[in-house]
Amino acid sequence: MITRIINAKEGLDDAVSLIKNGELVVFPTETVYGLGANAYNSAAVRKIFEAKGRPQDNPLIVHISRVEEVREIARDIPEVFYTLAERFMPGALTVVLPRSERIPDIVTAGGDTVAVRMPDNAFARELIARSFPLAAPSANRSKHVSPTSAKHVYDDLKGKVPLILDGGECGVGIESTVLDLTSGSPVILRPGAVTAEMLAPYLGVAPGSGKVIGTAKSPGMKYEHYAPTAEAYAALSAESAAAFYDRCAAEGRRPVLLFRDIHADVLGERERISLGVSVEDFMHSVYSALRAAEKDHDVIVVETLTGEGRAASVMNRVMKAVGGKTV
Ligand code: TXA
Ligand code: MG
Repeated sequence: MITRIINAKEGLDDAVSLIKNGELVVFPTETVYGLGANAYNSAAVRKIFEAKGRPQDNPLIVHISRVEEVREIARDIPEVFYTLAERFMPGALTVVLPRSERIPDIVTAGGDTVAVRMPDNAFARELIARSFPLAAPSANRSKHVSPTSAKHVYDDLKGKVPLILDGGECGVGIESTVLDLTSGSPVILRPGAVTAEMLAPYLGVAPGSGKVIGTAKSPGMKYEHYAPTAEAYAALSAESAAAFYDRCAAEGRRPVLLFRDIHADVLGERERISLGVSVEDFMHSVYSALRAAEKDHDVIVVETLTGEGRAASVMNRVMKAVGGKTV
Protein backbone atom coordinates (compact mmCIF):
# COMPACT_ATOMS: atom_id res chain seq x y z
CA MET A 1 0.00 0.00 0.00
CA ILE A 2 1.23 3.49 -0.80
CA THR A 3 1.00 5.93 2.11
CA ARG A 4 0.24 9.51 1.11
CA ILE A 5 0.93 12.49 3.39
CA ILE A 6 -1.33 15.39 2.45
CA ASN A 7 -1.87 18.78 4.05
CA ALA A 8 -4.95 18.34 6.29
CA LYS A 9 -7.01 20.97 4.50
CA GLU A 10 -6.35 19.61 1.01
CA GLY A 11 -6.68 15.97 2.02
CA LEU A 12 -9.97 16.27 3.84
CA ASP A 13 -12.26 15.18 0.97
CA ASP A 14 -10.15 12.06 0.38
CA ALA A 15 -10.11 11.35 4.10
CA VAL A 16 -13.92 11.52 4.28
CA SER A 17 -14.23 9.06 1.34
CA LEU A 18 -11.74 6.64 2.87
CA ILE A 19 -13.51 6.61 6.25
CA LYS A 20 -16.90 6.11 4.55
CA ASN A 21 -15.37 3.18 2.64
CA GLY A 22 -14.20 1.46 5.83
CA GLU A 23 -10.53 2.44 5.44
CA LEU A 24 -8.07 4.00 7.89
CA VAL A 25 -7.00 7.65 8.02
CA VAL A 26 -4.36 9.25 10.23
CA PHE A 27 -5.50 12.64 11.51
CA PRO A 28 -3.90 15.40 13.61
CA THR A 29 -5.14 16.27 17.11
CA GLU A 30 -3.81 18.70 19.71
CA THR A 31 -2.35 15.84 21.80
CA VAL A 32 -0.82 13.30 19.38
CA TYR A 33 -1.76 11.98 15.92
CA GLY A 34 -4.64 9.47 15.80
CA LEU A 35 -5.17 6.40 13.58
CA GLY A 36 -8.89 6.54 12.85
CA ALA A 37 -11.64 4.29 11.53
CA ASN A 38 -15.46 4.48 11.52
CA ALA A 39 -16.28 3.58 15.14
CA TYR A 40 -19.52 1.84 14.07
CA ASN A 41 -17.77 -0.51 11.61
CA SER A 42 -16.00 -3.50 13.24
CA ALA A 43 -14.22 -4.55 10.06
CA ALA A 44 -12.77 -1.04 9.69
CA VAL A 45 -11.73 -0.88 13.35
CA ARG A 46 -10.04 -4.29 13.07
CA LYS A 47 -7.64 -2.73 10.53
CA ILE A 48 -6.40 -0.36 13.25
CA PHE A 49 -5.20 -3.26 15.39
CA GLU A 50 -3.53 -4.88 12.37
CA ALA A 51 -1.76 -1.70 11.24
CA LYS A 52 -0.40 -0.94 14.71
CA GLY A 53 0.23 -4.47 15.91
CA ARG A 54 -1.94 -3.57 18.92
CA PRO A 55 -3.24 -6.22 21.37
CA GLN A 56 -7.03 -6.60 21.01
CA ASP A 57 -7.64 -6.40 24.76
CA ASN A 58 -6.77 -2.70 24.75
CA PRO A 59 -9.89 -0.56 24.06
CA LEU A 60 -9.97 2.50 21.79
CA ILE A 61 -11.13 6.08 22.32
CA VAL A 62 -14.10 7.23 20.20
CA HIS A 63 -13.58 10.76 18.87
CA ILE A 64 -16.59 13.03 18.34
CA SER A 65 -17.06 16.44 16.71
CA ARG A 66 -19.93 17.82 18.81
CA VAL A 67 -20.89 17.15 22.44
CA GLU A 68 -24.38 15.89 21.44
CA GLU A 69 -22.82 13.00 19.50
CA VAL A 70 -22.00 11.41 22.85
CA ARG A 71 -25.62 10.20 23.05
CA GLU A 72 -25.00 7.78 20.19
CA ILE A 73 -21.79 6.46 21.72
CA ALA A 74 -22.74 6.19 25.40
CA ARG A 75 -25.83 5.73 27.61
CA ASP A 76 -26.81 6.75 31.17
CA ILE A 77 -24.63 9.83 30.75
CA PRO A 78 -24.25 11.62 34.10
CA GLU A 79 -24.92 15.37 34.26
CA VAL A 80 -21.30 15.96 35.29
CA PHE A 81 -20.20 14.81 31.83
CA TYR A 82 -21.89 17.85 30.33
CA THR A 83 -20.36 20.12 32.96
CA LEU A 84 -16.91 18.79 32.09
CA ALA A 85 -17.66 19.01 28.36
CA GLU A 86 -18.59 22.66 28.71
CA ARG A 87 -15.23 23.45 30.26
CA PHE A 88 -12.81 20.97 28.66
CA MET A 89 -14.22 19.98 25.25
CA PRO A 90 -12.81 20.24 22.72
CA GLY A 91 -9.60 19.39 24.56
CA ALA A 92 -7.20 16.88 26.02
CA LEU A 93 -9.77 15.11 28.20
CA THR A 94 -11.17 11.63 27.49
CA VAL A 95 -14.15 10.48 29.57
CA VAL A 96 -15.12 6.83 30.12
CA LEU A 97 -18.90 6.25 30.14
CA PRO A 98 -21.31 3.30 29.90
CA ARG A 99 -21.28 2.13 26.29
CA SER A 100 -24.23 2.34 23.88
CA GLU A 101 -25.32 -0.65 21.80
CA ARG A 102 -24.18 1.04 18.62
CA ILE A 103 -20.52 0.66 19.56
CA PRO A 104 -19.09 -2.72 18.50
CA ASP A 105 -17.13 -4.98 20.87
CA ILE A 106 -13.87 -4.47 19.06
CA VAL A 107 -13.82 -0.77 20.09
CA THR A 108 -14.31 -1.46 23.81
CA ALA A 109 -12.37 -4.75 23.95
CA GLY A 110 -15.69 -6.37 24.87
CA GLY A 111 -16.17 -4.14 27.95
CA ASP A 112 -19.33 -2.31 29.06
CA THR A 113 -17.70 1.12 28.91
CA VAL A 114 -16.51 3.41 26.13
CA ALA A 115 -13.96 6.24 26.15
CA VAL A 116 -15.08 9.49 24.44
CA ARG A 117 -13.07 12.56 23.45
CA MET A 118 -13.55 15.68 21.30
CA PRO A 119 -10.19 16.69 19.82
CA ASP A 120 -9.21 20.36 19.71
CA ASN A 121 -8.34 20.31 16.02
CA ALA A 122 -10.68 21.77 13.41
CA PHE A 123 -9.62 19.29 10.66
CA ALA A 124 -10.17 16.31 12.91
CA ARG A 125 -13.62 17.57 13.89
CA GLU A 126 -14.56 18.33 10.29
CA LEU A 127 -13.51 14.84 9.21
CA ILE A 128 -15.71 13.36 11.97
CA ALA A 129 -18.65 15.68 11.24
CA ARG A 130 -18.58 14.72 7.54
CA SER A 131 -18.20 10.96 8.13
CA PHE A 132 -18.54 9.10 11.46
CA PRO A 133 -17.26 9.21 15.02
CA LEU A 134 -13.72 7.84 14.81
CA ALA A 135 -12.31 5.05 16.94
CA ALA A 136 -8.63 5.97 17.15
CA PRO A 137 -5.53 5.14 19.15
CA SER A 138 -2.29 7.08 18.86
CA ALA A 139 -0.88 6.57 15.34
CA ASN A 140 2.39 4.88 16.36
CA ARG A 141 3.47 1.29 15.91
CA SER A 142 2.44 -0.51 19.13
CA LYS A 143 4.89 0.12 22.02
CA HIS A 144 6.72 2.95 20.27
CA VAL A 145 6.64 6.61 21.27
CA SER A 146 3.39 8.40 20.27
CA PRO A 147 3.69 10.60 17.14
CA THR A 148 3.47 14.38 17.32
CA SER A 149 4.11 15.04 13.61
CA ALA A 150 3.05 13.51 10.29
CA LYS A 151 6.68 12.46 9.71
CA HIS A 152 6.69 10.46 12.98
CA VAL A 153 3.56 8.63 11.78
CA TYR A 154 5.12 7.95 8.39
CA ASP A 155 8.24 6.49 10.02
CA ASP A 156 6.08 3.99 11.95
CA LEU A 157 3.17 3.20 9.61
CA LYS A 158 4.33 3.69 6.02
CA GLY A 159 2.80 1.03 3.79
CA LYS A 160 0.14 0.26 6.40
CA VAL A 161 -2.22 3.24 6.02
CA PRO A 162 -3.44 4.93 2.82
CA LEU A 163 -3.52 8.54 4.06
CA ILE A 164 -1.89 10.74 6.69
CA LEU A 165 -3.46 14.19 7.10
CA ASP A 166 -0.64 16.57 7.97
CA GLY A 167 -1.72 19.21 10.47
CA GLY A 168 1.75 20.20 11.65
CA GLU A 169 3.14 19.62 15.12
CA CYS A 170 0.76 18.69 17.93
CA GLY A 171 0.54 21.50 20.49
CA VAL A 172 0.10 19.53 23.72
CA GLY A 173 2.48 16.68 22.93
CA ILE A 174 1.31 13.84 25.22
CA GLU A 175 -1.89 11.79 25.12
CA SER A 176 -5.14 12.99 26.71
CA THR A 177 -6.13 12.59 30.35
CA VAL A 178 -8.46 9.58 30.70
CA LEU A 179 -11.15 10.08 33.38
CA ASP A 180 -13.47 7.20 34.32
CA LEU A 181 -16.97 8.27 35.40
CA THR A 182 -18.38 4.73 35.59
CA SER A 183 -17.03 3.51 38.91
CA GLY A 184 -18.81 5.41 41.68
CA SER A 185 -16.29 8.16 42.26
CA PRO A 186 -14.29 9.71 39.40
CA VAL A 187 -10.94 8.05 38.69
CA ILE A 188 -8.06 9.25 36.51
CA LEU A 189 -6.87 6.23 34.52
CA ARG A 190 -4.17 8.12 32.62
CA PRO A 191 -2.78 11.54 33.66
CA GLY A 192 -2.41 14.25 31.01
CA ALA A 193 -2.50 17.99 30.36
CA VAL A 194 -5.92 18.25 32.04
CA THR A 195 -4.90 17.61 35.65
CA ALA A 196 -6.74 16.43 38.78
CA GLU A 197 -6.44 19.96 40.15
CA MET A 198 -8.18 21.36 37.06
CA LEU A 199 -10.94 18.73 37.20
CA ALA A 200 -11.64 18.84 40.93
CA PRO A 201 -13.92 21.92 41.03
CA TYR A 202 -16.22 20.36 38.41
CA LEU A 203 -16.37 17.01 40.15
CA GLY A 204 -17.62 18.36 43.45
CA VAL A 205 -14.26 17.92 45.15
CA ALA A 206 -13.68 21.03 47.26
CA PRO A 207 -10.10 22.36 47.18
CA GLY A 208 -8.41 21.62 50.51
CA SER A 209 -11.18 19.19 51.55
CA GLY A 210 -8.62 16.41 51.70
CA LYS A 211 -10.66 14.47 49.11
CA VAL A 212 -8.77 13.60 45.97
CA ILE A 213 -9.79 12.20 42.64
CA GLY A 214 -8.78 8.55 42.59
CA THR A 215 -6.14 7.18 40.23
CA ALA A 216 -5.93 3.75 38.67
CA LYS A 217 -4.46 2.26 35.51
CA SER A 218 -6.25 2.19 32.17
CA PRO A 219 -6.11 -1.17 30.37
CA GLY A 220 -3.46 0.25 28.04
CA MET A 221 -1.12 1.34 30.83
CA LYS A 222 -0.02 -2.23 31.50
CA TYR A 223 1.76 -2.37 28.16
CA GLU A 224 5.26 -1.02 27.89
CA HIS A 225 4.27 1.99 25.89
CA TYR A 226 6.14 4.95 24.55
CA ALA A 227 9.59 3.38 24.52
CA PRO A 228 12.32 4.67 22.18
CA THR A 229 14.49 2.07 20.43
CA ALA A 230 17.68 3.27 22.21
CA GLU A 231 18.53 2.55 25.86
CA ALA A 232 17.00 5.35 27.97
CA TYR A 233 17.27 6.66 31.53
CA ALA A 234 15.71 9.38 33.67
CA ALA A 235 18.26 11.66 35.34
CA LEU A 236 18.22 12.06 39.13
CA SER A 237 19.94 15.42 38.59
CA ALA A 238 21.72 17.36 35.84
CA GLU A 239 25.02 16.58 37.60
CA SER A 240 24.39 12.82 37.64
CA ALA A 241 23.35 12.98 33.98
CA ALA A 242 26.57 14.79 33.07
CA ALA A 243 28.70 12.22 34.93
CA PHE A 244 26.85 9.30 33.30
CA TYR A 245 27.20 10.95 29.88
CA ASP A 246 30.97 11.21 30.35
CA ARG A 247 31.27 7.53 31.33
CA CYS A 248 29.23 6.45 28.28
CA ALA A 249 31.29 8.68 25.97
CA ALA A 250 34.53 7.26 27.44
CA GLU A 251 33.26 3.75 26.56
CA GLY A 252 32.79 4.87 22.96
CA ARG A 253 29.00 5.01 23.18
CA ARG A 254 26.94 7.87 21.76
CA PRO A 255 24.90 9.45 24.57
CA VAL A 256 22.54 12.41 24.34
CA LEU A 257 20.85 14.54 27.02
CA LEU A 258 17.19 15.65 26.78
CA PHE A 259 17.00 18.65 29.12
CA ARG A 260 15.46 22.09 29.38
CA ASP A 261 17.66 25.14 28.85
CA ILE A 262 17.83 25.99 32.56
CA HIS A 263 20.35 23.14 32.88
CA ALA A 264 22.55 24.33 30.01
CA ASP A 265 25.32 25.59 32.33
CA VAL A 266 25.71 22.29 34.17
CA LEU A 267 25.57 20.23 30.96
CA GLY A 268 28.08 22.41 29.10
CA GLU A 269 29.26 21.20 25.69
CA ARG A 270 27.73 17.72 26.00
CA GLU A 271 25.31 16.85 23.22
CA ARG A 272 21.80 17.90 24.19
CA ILE A 273 18.33 18.12 22.63
CA SER A 274 16.50 21.07 24.18
CA LEU A 275 13.13 20.53 25.85
CA GLY A 276 12.54 24.28 25.94
CA VAL A 277 11.95 26.28 29.09
CA SER A 278 8.58 25.54 30.74
CA VAL A 279 6.84 22.32 31.81
CA GLU A 280 4.52 22.83 28.82
CA ASP A 281 7.54 23.08 26.49
CA PHE A 282 8.84 19.82 27.95
CA MET A 283 5.43 18.17 27.40
CA HIS A 284 5.20 19.51 23.86
CA SER A 285 8.67 18.38 22.76
CA VAL A 286 9.58 15.25 24.73
CA TYR A 287 8.18 12.65 22.28
CA SER A 288 9.70 14.41 19.33
CA ALA A 289 13.04 14.62 21.16
CA LEU A 290 12.95 10.89 22.02
CA ARG A 291 12.33 10.04 18.37
CA ALA A 292 15.15 12.32 17.20
CA ALA A 293 17.50 10.93 19.88
CA GLU A 294 16.98 7.26 19.03
CA LYS A 295 18.06 7.88 15.42
CA ASP A 296 21.61 9.03 16.15
CA HIS A 297 22.35 7.88 19.70
CA ASP A 298 22.47 4.68 21.69
CA VAL A 299 21.97 6.13 25.19
CA ILE A 300 19.33 8.72 26.06
CA VAL A 301 19.17 10.56 29.41
CA VAL A 302 16.00 12.59 30.11
CA GLU A 303 15.52 15.34 32.69
CA THR A 304 13.27 14.51 35.65
CA LEU A 305 10.61 17.06 36.55
CA THR A 306 9.46 17.24 40.15
CA GLY A 307 6.05 18.43 41.29
CA GLU A 308 2.39 17.69 40.76
CA GLY A 309 0.00 18.48 37.94
CA ARG A 310 1.38 18.59 34.40
CA ALA A 311 4.92 17.86 35.59
CA ALA A 312 3.68 14.57 37.09
CA SER A 313 1.74 13.75 33.89
CA VAL A 314 4.85 14.18 31.74
CA MET A 315 6.94 12.13 34.17
CA ASN A 316 4.38 9.32 33.93
CA ARG A 317 5.30 9.07 30.22
CA VAL A 318 9.03 9.58 30.72
CA MET A 319 9.22 6.79 33.32
CA LYS A 320 7.48 4.47 30.84
CA ALA A 321 9.85 5.50 28.06
CA VAL A 322 12.88 4.70 30.23
CA GLY A 323 11.33 1.56 31.73
CA GLY A 324 11.81 3.04 35.22
CA LYS A 325 15.64 3.20 34.90
CA THR A 326 17.44 6.17 36.50
CA VAL A 327 21.01 7.50 36.60
O1 TXA B 1 -4.71 11.94 23.18
C1 TXA B 1 -5.18 10.83 23.00
O2 TXA B 1 -5.92 10.27 23.83
C2 TXA B 1 -4.83 10.11 21.69
C3 TXA B 1 -5.46 10.91 20.53
C4 TXA B 1 -5.27 10.22 19.20
O3 TXA B 1 -6.82 11.12 20.80
N1 TXA B 1 -5.29 8.77 21.71
C5 TXA B 1 -4.70 7.80 22.45
O4 TXA B 1 -5.25 6.54 22.27
O5 TXA B 1 -3.76 8.00 23.20
P1 TXA B 1 -4.55 5.22 22.80
O6 TXA B 1 -5.38 4.12 22.27
O7 TXA B 1 -3.13 5.22 22.43
O8 TXA B 1 -4.76 5.28 24.35
C6 TXA B 1 -6.08 5.17 24.88
C7 TXA B 1 -6.02 4.84 26.34
C8 TXA B 1 -5.46 3.45 26.58
O9 TXA B 1 -4.65 3.48 27.76
C9 TXA B 1 -6.73 2.62 26.79
O10 TXA B 1 -6.48 1.48 27.59
C10 TXA B 1 -7.65 3.62 27.47
O11 TXA B 1 -7.36 4.85 26.85
N2 TXA B 1 -9.07 3.30 27.25
C11 TXA B 1 -9.75 3.28 26.08
N3 TXA B 1 -11.02 2.89 26.26
C12 TXA B 1 -11.18 2.65 27.58
C13 TXA B 1 -12.25 2.21 28.40
N4 TXA B 1 -13.45 1.93 27.90
N5 TXA B 1 -12.03 2.07 29.72
C14 TXA B 1 -10.81 2.35 30.25
N6 TXA B 1 -9.75 2.77 29.54
C15 TXA B 1 -9.92 2.92 28.22
MG1 MG C 1 -1.16 4.90 22.38
